[in-house]
Amino acid sequence: MEHTLLEPAISNPALTPGIRVLLEPEVANAAELCQRVQINTGSRRIAADRDDDARYAGGIFVPADNWARPTAQELALLAANGTAGTDPPSRTIRLFPIPQYLYRLAWDVGIDAILSQPPPGPQAADPLLAAFCAEAARLMRIVYAPATSLTLQLRNPELASTTYDTDAGTAIGLHVDNFDRHAIDRRHQSRSRVVVNLGTEPRSLVFINLDVMQLVDACNLARSVEVFERYRWAYPLAQLFMATHPDYPVVRLQLHPGEGYLASTQNFIHDGYTVGMAAPDLTLHAVPQADPERG
Ligand SMILES: [Fe+2]
Repeated sequence: MEHTLLEPAISNPALTPGIRVLLEPEVANAAELCQRVQINTGSRRIAADRDDDARYAGGIFVPADNWARPTAQELALLAANGTAGTDPPSRTIRLFPIPQYLYRLAWDVGIDAILSQPPPGPQAADPLLAAFCAEAARLMRIVYAPATSLTLQLRNPELASTTYDTDAGTAIGLHVDNFDRHAIDRRHQSRSRVVVNLGTEPRSLVFINLDVMQLVDACNLARSVEVFERYRWAYPLAQLFMATHPDYPVVRLQLHPGEGYLASTQNFIHDGYTVGMAAPDLTLHAVPQADPERG
């Protein structure tokens, strides 16, 4: 199992304080933050898989692939462990372990094989899958009470973006989730999301460590009601930031099998990332019940 991604350190003076990562003790015991984090030199624009949707006609942004180990200063800036309790949940990515039996149950059930079959397939009728989802939902509600809806997702390895807009027929790249559609100045009150790695290899969450209000400031936009409302769908704000700050580093955070994260994904730019993996990426997503738009 590949747990080491480290390359010689590079300097990223542009990284500024913002979103931090909190490791629960069992996760830290498996690998400290310095063993889980890489930083690159920014994001790059690529063509969408299809260009007939106006939202993606200008392309999408993915991380540059020149990952390297962060400096000690960058690591300190990203680590919430020393400041636990001082960072609000809206600015914290918390990594936690799931019970081993639940992880094993996913493979006993054969979720990967079930999801590999085209819909309508056996997903809805499979009693073992239903049993897994019921148990997973019970546990997810302990971690994150509002998470009342579960989805399972199977993605290919070697994807620079795992978030797919099925209507538009394209991966959407680095983005801000939008299921509550709060105005920008209320994004810190948005509901969070849980993602659990049920696969056999580490997979990565890639993110820009700035919340949406910091994006507003960085883009020299006024902190006005008009701006906050204009970007109620936050995707264009994320695109504006990456277009104007292509050198701002993206952080790559490794999630080992059987680990999950809880994060306010409606408050910062992020995506899933399976580059470097050989096996399929299997994830469990625990989301709020009213989830009209997957982000
Ligand atoms: Fe997302």
